[in-house]
Amino acid sequence: MEKNKTSKSRVSSEVRLLQAAVQDTEDSVLITDANLHPPGPRIVFVNPGFSKMTGYTSEEVIGKSPRLMQGPKTDRKVLDRLKLCLENGEPFFGEAINYRKDGTEYYLEWHISPVRDTGGKITHFVSVQRDITERKRAEELHVQFQKQKARTAAIVETQEEERRRIAKELHDALGQMLVAVKFNVDILEDKLEIMDVLTIKRAVNIKNLLNQIMLEVRRISYNLMPSILEDFGLPPALNQLCEQLSQNESLKIRFVCNGLEKRLPRVVEIGMYRIAQEALNNIIKHSYAHEATIQLIKDRKTVTLSIEDDGNGFIPDEANTGKQHRGMGLMNMRERAESINASFYLDSRPGQGTEVIVQLKDNEK
Ligand SMILES: Nc1ncnc2c1ncn2[C@@H]1O[C@H](COP(=O)(O)OP(=O)(O)O)[C@@H](O)[C@H]1O
Ligand SMILES: [Mg+2]
Repeated sequence: MEKNKTSKSRVSSEVRLLQAAVQDTEDSVLITDANLHPPGPRIVFVNPGFSKMTGYTSEEVIGKSPRLMQGPKTDRKVLDRLKLCLENGEPFFGEAINYRKDGTEYYLEWHISPVRDTGGKITHFVSVQRDITERKRAEELHVQFQKQKARTAAIVETQEEERRRIAKELHDALGQMLVAVKFNVDILEDKLEIMDVLTIKRAVNIKNLLNQIMLEVRRISYNLMPSILEDFGLPPALNQLCEQLSQNESLKIRFVCNGLEKRLPRVVEIGMYRIAQEALNNIIKHSYAHEATIQLIKDRKTVTLSIEDDGNGFIPDEANTGKQHRGMGLMNMRERAESINASFYLDSRPGQGTEVIVQLKDNEK
């Protein structure tokens, strides 16, 4: 207590003015003397903001070194730079981890400036600290989110690579062998008149089965990776998708494409194609729509893909919650969009139809 009084009595009128000014600020303010020789500066004043941030009362810290708040995770390099600034009489600005009285850590933004007397001699240092733990946490979360996004994109890319490989194998290897078998069966067909009825029936069966298998292999190969997407790009591939699905269902599907003259990057083409595929499958499976429209529009800054239906709609928040978990489709679409750096919007209401929008800023890809 005696010591506190002596340090306080040494406080100049300028510093007293400063103390009054910072009494009520939210930030933590701490004033030390300017003694740079070991054991270094001593605290002569702290404001209530300091006590709130650190848990120390002013009685507990006056006369002590600010090192009290430092600990194992306080970056030494920051402290060395701080020391250098103070020695040169320059202001210091930095970030560091400090410790509260109860030992918990907090991240702070830290500003120290020297106070000089009328003769220009440094008499005190004023240290203003702001708790930025929340901001740091948000930044860390953001970094984690970006990493997760990159991982998802890599997984999706690998999957597509694998699909492409299997599609090619099916088409080239298995497909060619089936052609050879078919060729032989056709020869057999020419000899049908010399066989008995049962054998003829079997041979016809084999031929029909073979035709089905060939169609099926082509269908599987195409679904794995449509060759038209690779060879001619997104608009023709989407157009063909619409035609194929319109044939099978009692649903009219329109395709509108505008402004897209050049090919998009391959990952973007595949990503957008898969999203359209899932959205159309959802329309067929769930919507009871009469009409659906796919639009692919490019303007100066964006490429927008939208898939819209006039069906029964749904409540998006309920679609993939634990209670009513029905599928992965919506989540996969969102992840696909994220993996190509596009925004994803889903707009649906019961009775009002559904719209899925994927928007890619042109400069992002
Ligand atoms: N276009 C749509 N019209 C109506 N309901 C839809 C539509 N798209 C999705 N849904 C609803 O959202 C749910 C989740 O869709 P999704 O994640 O693709 O899973 P899945 O298709 O396997 O059920 C569907 O079960 C359906 O109830
Ligand atoms: Mg689905």
